[in-house]
Amino acid sequence: MAITITMGIQKGGCGKSTTTGILAYLLSQDGYKVLAVDMDSQGNLTEFLSKRPSNEFVEKSVLEAMQHQDPTNYIVPIYENLDLLPANNFLATFPRWIYTGVTYLGEKIRYNGDNPSKILDETLEKVRDNYDFIVIDTPPSLSEQTTNALCASEYVVVLFECSNWCYSAIPNFMDSVEGARNVSKHGTKVIGILRTMNDVRRSDAKAFNEMIEEDYPNEVFKTIITRKAPIGRLSLYGFDENSELKQALGQYKNFYKELMERVKGR
Ligand SMILES: Nc1ncnc2c1ncn2[C@@H]1O[C@H](COP(=O)(O)OP(=O)(O)OP(=O)(O)O)[C@@H](O)[C@H]1O
Ligand SMILES: [Mg+2]
Repeated sequence: MAITITMGIQKGGCGKSTTTGILAYLLSQDGYKVLAVDMDSQGNLTEFLSKRPSNEFVEKSVLEAMQHQDPTNYIVPIYENLDLLPANNFLATFPRWIYTGVTYLGEKIRYNGDNPSKILDETLEKVRDNYDFIVIDTPPSLSEQTTNALCASEYVVVLFECSNWCYSAIPNFMDSVEGARNVSKHGTKVIGILRTMNDVRRSDAKAFNEMIEEDYPNEVFKTIITRKAPIGRLSLYGFDENSELKQALGQYKNFYKELMERVKGR
């Protein structure tokens, strides 16, 4: 039975998709069978892992998987141990479908369960036994897509990019995790806060790093992911034949080690 981990924060551009893609890759390289799920209509994780435009997955995505409550026909193999459940722009119609029962193609499909926040969880049920880990990328909002990801997860990694607006997003995000825990059978909990895209030499970044350590001493990971061109360029070059892969993954390997220690210690 897979362990499910969501990457989230409702502030945009904090490294959620980058971290989800790298985590999926490192887990698969470590010999685990992994499913990466894209719950963001931007489709960034989809393009990162598949190296294809997200529009190629129209009518073949996580949205249709949720509407039919079965992901099997929509899962795309990426590497030997890594599969992807892709997304595209039409995932933005997910809330409208939930509340009208009409898909963006005009098809009538009613959700018959008892809680619309559990649609993804119920959908993944069919494939959970096929994987060791499921990792989920979320959009920069506290939308139905995010709520569904949280309710499907045992663990949540909160992304923190050193800025005031990201700092002020954290308490509301923590409340959303708490809300998910109350309804999910997975006992959704924050497994850690990861500081990303960090400019460690900037005085304001240093101050935010310290504030986060004081506010969340048990949650914050020791590893800090700094702002580095090779990490940014992963979105361009991916993992294959990337001459800077070692520089791109270095800090993330330390995060991976810390995360796995926490997962195994629980
Ligand atoms: N450590 C890093 N150093 C440099 N660039 C980075 C780093 N991490 C991510 N990036 C780049 O910063 C941008 C934002 O990262 P990413 O898309 O992963 O954030 P996000 O939280 O998923 O954004 P959104 O909220 O829009 O989904 C991307 O262009 C990515 O390639
Ligand atoms: Mg993203």
